[in-house]
Amino acid sequence: MDFVIRRSDPADAEQLTRLADSVSAEPEGWLISIAGEWRSAGDERRFLKALRRYPHAAVFVAEREDGTLVGRLSVGRDPHPASAHVADVGLMVALDARRQGVGRALLQAAVEWAREADIRKLELHVFPWNEAAIALYEAFGFEREGFRKGHYRRGGEFVDAILMAYAIE
Ligand SMILES: CC(C)(COP(=O)(O)OP(=O)(O)OC[C@H]1O[C@@H](n2cnc3c(N)ncnc32)[C@H](O)[C@@H]1OP(=O)(O)O)[C@@H](O)C(=O)NCCC(=O)NCCS
Repeated sequence: MDFVIRRSDPADAEQLTRLADSVSAEPEGWLISIAGEWRSAGDERRFLKALRRYPHAAVFVAEREDGTLVGRLSVGRDPHPASAHVADVGLMVALDARRQGVGRALLQAAVEWAREADIRKLELHVFPWNEAAIALYEAFGFEREGFRKGHYRRGGEFVDAILMAYAIE
């Protein structure tokens, strides 16, 4: 599969919402959002539009040759002044596009963006049962920094998460 990584555009909102809805609906529960909880296409469009003028966060997409968006990565600087050198990452890849290097390429884009933005550390939370994501992050160079008990409320229950981080050289 050929794909390119690029910054998102507000016109991506509908496709990105569909992607997030379908990943949220996967029964394994990879994301904090459950089926139907992801933001609407209108909210996503407004968010992507606001990002154009906001230097502290970015969304990258992976676009397949036929124009289909098969991956979305968000990265945003921590709002606290004492941890403004840290940015949080969120990532998803379409089910039929996995294991073809999309996730790794999106993470690489996040690292490049972070370096330009004087960010020294990327962090993320991953559910302990998400072996694919943990394998990707460890292969990429993320390290486990902690285990957060009952940290997220997901579909009416409180679930644990692993905190991982990557040092920007
Ligand atoms: C986790 C996820 C983003 C990985 O994206 P991807 O595009 O499939 O990952 P890549 O193809 O770039 O994988 C790179 C490396 O990560 C590791 N990896 C990825 N998926 C793996 C899997 N299912 N099992 C074992 N290792 C895996 C491998 O080392 C892989 O390299 P290889 O294919 O050369 O062996 C994707 O599975 C996904 O979107 N899952 C659902 C949403 C989600 O879990 N998001 C993350 C929430 S924290």
